[in-house]
Amino acid sequence: TNLPNHISIIMDGNGRWALDKNLKRIDGHKAGVKTVKKITKYCAKKGIKCLSLFTFSSENWLRPKTEVKSLMKLFVSTLDKELNLLIDNNICFKVIGDKDKLDYFTRKNIDYVENLTSKNTGMKMILAMSYGGRQDIVFAINKLIDEGYKKINEEDISKYLLTNEITDPDLLIRPGKERRISNFYLWQLAYSEIYFSDILWPDFDEKDLDEIIKDFQLRERRYGRTSNQI
Ligand code: IPE
Ligand code: IPE
Ligand code: MG
Repeated sequence: TNLPNHISIIMDGNGRWALDKNLKRIDGHKAGVKTVKKITKYCAKKGIKCLSLFTFSSENWLRPKTEVKSLMKLFVSTLDKELNLLIDNNICFKVIGDKDKLDYFTRKNIDYVENLTSKNTGMKMILAMSYGGRQDIVFAINKLIDEGYKKINEEDISKYLLTNEITDPDLLIRPGKERRISNFYLWQLAYSEIYFSDILWPDFDEKDLDEIIKDFQLRERRYGRTSNQI
């Protein structure tokens, strides 16, 4: 009971995890994929309605070409290998972000997996790829302008954001020691409960998630109101 409907995670710390072990950064990303598999399965089993994962930011394009290339390769090969995990767990998979920046082959793979899982009725899994919170808002406003809107309200913006099919995150988790949002969901996080963890993403596991959910369940979400009558 009182489970968060939508959990979003900024998956961070892969590079530092690898560095600590004298490995290459890409080995950290590979270890990060293992955590993605664990946490995805666990959330689906637990009955979480939506899991969104910040996978690659608009700003991550600024990393060395070799890292970007190997990340994209790892992404496509994981999609290919783990399609059954999505099917077996009745997961509906979707990628949001500036997909035009992704190469043709990556886009084709995403389309394929999205189509194959679109009728699944279980957990929604959203991967934010080439995603930026500010870009999402600007994109939404430009679409509203194109449609001839002269004045807009909050619902209009929400409707045109890439997250229009899902509710706002109840819980945002950022492992990896940093205390920042890094241009992830900006509009959508207005009233999310935030949890920063020092655990690096490749070391993060089901028990860590359970602890965070327990902490979430103890919090009082007031939305500006007060529960104190005195
Ligand atoms: C997160 O791990 C994965 C991506 C941003 C793609 P990092 O690669 O940012 O790991 P650190 O922050 O360097 O440890
Ligand atoms: C945020 O991590 C982006 C993702 C996890 C995809 P970064 O590692 O890119 O964030 P900064 O640069 O430390 O803020
Ligand atoms: Mg990082």
